[in-house]
Amino acid sequence: MPRKRPLTEAQVRGRRVLVRVDFNVPRTEEGGVADDRRILEVLPTLRYLREEGARTILMSHLGRPGGRRDAADSLRPIVQRLSGYLGQPVPLIEEITGPKAIAEVERLADGEFAMLENLRFVPGEEKNDPEFAAALAQLGELFVEEAFGSVHRAHASTVGVAQRLPGYVGFLVEREVVGLSKLLEAPERPFVAILGGAKVRDKLPLLKSLVGRADRILIGGALAFPFLAAQGAELGATPVETGLDEEVRSFLEAARAKGTLVLLPVDLLVEIAGRREAESAAASLVPAGAIARDIGPLTRDRFYAQLSDSRTVFWNGPLGLAEDPRFAPGTREVLAGLATIPGFHVCAGGDSGRIAEDLGLTGAFQYLSTGGGAALEFLEGRELPGLAVIPDA
Ligand code: ADP
Ligand code: 3PG
Ligand code: MG
Repeated sequence: MPRKRPLTEAQVRGRRVLVRVDFNVPRTEEGGVADDRRILEVLPTLRYLREEGARTILMSHLGRPGGRRDAADSLRPIVQRLSGYLGQPVPLIEEITGPKAIAEVERLADGEFAMLENLRFVPGEEKNDPEFAAALAQLGELFVEEAFGSVHRAHASTVGVAQRLPGYVGFLVEREVVGLSKLLEAPERPFVAILGGAKVRDKLPLLKSLVGRADRILIGGALAFPFLAAQGAELGATPVETGLDEEVRSFLEAARAKGTLVLLPVDLLVEIAGRREAESAAASLVPAGAIARDIGPLTRDRFYAQLSDSRTVFWNGPLGLAEDPRFAPGTREVLAGLATIPGFHVCAGGDSGRIAEDLGLTGAFQYLSTGGGAALEFLEGRELPGLAVIPDA
């Protein structure tokens, strides 16, 4: 993959620099920041910009508010956290574009920061609406792509703005490309991918690109449910994404053709209304009314057996609802096993990183990526929209 023009080549002193970051952090039930890896990882870039005398305007999305302003998805708690780390205020610009926003960014002095409110409050963001992209571009003179977790999205802030301003990549994006490229270029085999999580509709169609690249694919989390449903499993009251049968079928067919081993759960931990403890169930038969929440102990052992001789591992997506201690054992046991196995292990994803951290198991990994879907799409081996739009170095 070509190297992209690095931030260090930009003349930033006294200029307004629009920096797209991915502050879509995991949140607590009260809406606070549950894990600040995505904030910490961009601090080197932000400190560099400050030292170089840039006037930095940050932009990010948070959650999926769907083009409407929703106080629950405000970036306010995040800018507060960021201000603490930078040791200086980062005012939040609530009106994202227009005369007020322009006035606020024009007030910035060299070395100062401001952040635009959640871009997904505006419908034009996800549509990459040209008018919205132009209005954003008007706020800055240069653009820095530092939102690795969002480079797979062709949105106004990741692509539209970059088409309108001289673009550069930040230090995090550079590091991510180098780190993940190790999985693309001759990974040591066996290469095992462990996949789970909740963004099933996004991720399931991406699995096919791992066929052939990985030797074994282990599927847990909510991602496993459409596969189990396609096999005719009874999943009780478990919410299952529908309309994915064709994706499931074509993935399994591709895996068969290439000889890629695919493992699905054979047992699950389920939640039964009125009972505090998790119960076990066969993956083919979840009792009526019960909700599947984690892989079961037999599945953990089967996954571990496929990892024990691995040399390269890519993990994205918790294997269960690991924020709930009752449904953390699947992820915990598999990661604890992984920690004992030598090799190059990559953890990818905002929630995956957070869960590994909460379980005290980040030591199982040699590389932690801030991207989930972005890392998966990166592994397809094609240049992602948010990178393609930045000139080569
Ligand atoms: P990442 O951010 O690492 O890319 P996702 O956003 O796709 O991962 O999914 C993470 C979420 O998936 C976690 O919050 C976890 O609780 C949830 N999850 C995983 N398995 C299940 C399950 N079986 N039922 C409900 N939620 C699940
Ligand atoms: C992520 O958390 O994977 C990124 O921030 C992208 O979020 P999205 O899937 O809502 O576009
Ligand atoms: Mg996530």
